Amino acid sequence: MPQIPSSARGARFIGWGTSLGHRVVTNDELTASMDTNDEWIRERTGIHRRHVGGSTAELSTISGQIALDMAGIDPKSIDALILATTTPDRTVPATSATVQNALGLACGAFDVNAACSGFVYGLVVAHGLIGVGAERIMVIGTDTLSRIVDWTDRNTAPLFADGSGAAILESTKGSGQLLGWDIDADGSAEEILYAEVGSTIQMNGKEVFRRAVRIMVDSAQKSMAAAGVTTEDISIVIPHQANIRIISAACDRLGISMDKASISIHETGNTSSASIPLALFGDFGQVKPKDGDIVLLVGFGAGMTAASAILRWNAQ
Ligand code: COA
Repeated sequence: MPQIPSSARGARFIGWGTSLGHRVVTNDELTASMDTNDEWIRERTGIHRRHVGGSTAELSTISGQIALDMAGIDPKSIDALILATTTPDRTVPATSATVQNALGLACGAFDVNAACSGFVYGLVVAHGLIGVGAERIMVIGTDTLSRIVDWTDRNTAPLFADGSGAAILESTKGSGQLLGWDIDADGSAEEILYAEVGSTIQMNGKEVFRRAVRIMVDSAQKSMAAAGVTTEDISIVIPHQANIRIISAACDRLGISMDKASISIHETGNTSSASIPLALFGDFGQVKPKDGDIVLLVGFGAGMTAASAILRWNAQ
């Protein structure tokens, strides 16, 4: 379990932004194309509606521009763009190249595919880049899963949707916000959640659910140990928004009250790489960090990946 050296140069967020698919799709609307109902979807998943529409580059450019405006910085001062996505617009080039141009950045740009853990993977990599000399990094998590679901499949279509969340990190004089981190993957489980190139998502929902709770808890515990904190120290949890019952079971096993968890799944559905930044920075997550709060970000996804990070909010 890697620990952050006390000499490492730190970073903090200086701007953020979010965007959602252009059109709201209600649970009732889904009943036209599959055998489902609003009550089942709300009770079994926590989802009331979702937003769909737009390309990965379009949604990323909107959230990235909002983050730039908030930070009030010259786009040319960004040293790298990391776009976490499972749904690139093209196989080649990386969608980050399109977004880099649209935002007027002049820096390296690359995509990270770690499914729903992607934003936290990107965040960890961004802190690493700042540790080796970068001043400012933009990390975006965006997915347009509506483009790769079968809209007649009730096992998957009610769950997935489109969204984006962006953050800009800047180097700090002190040790910065990141106290501990963990990234994991177990490729032996890839058959329980996958999409072939050009095809739709296939999922063994029960098996994903079972493993998800376990690997979220495991990853969170590794990050907390690396950071030297315990569950009592955690002020806020920003979990991946896949199913309200997964979040509740993971919080329960960690011994963290659900009141501390930011929940946006009722409005957004599962937006994969965008899920954590939407719950952290978006309008729907009702729990927002204050200066000095210890924040746990924790996600899991296809791969099966897991990732977590412990942040001290607004640390210098
Ligand atoms: N609408 C109505 N009924 C549905 C339904 C739907 N969309 N989907 C399944 N059902 C029915 C089933 O046919 C079954 O009926 P039966 O009891 O008559 O056989 C019943 O509901 C229960 O099905 P089950 O598969 O046991 O539901 P579940 O409680 O496991 O919930 C998921 C299904 C997919 C919501 C849940 O397993 C889940 O969230 N898994 C994790 C998925 C995930 O997080 N993926 C992304 C990872 S990043």
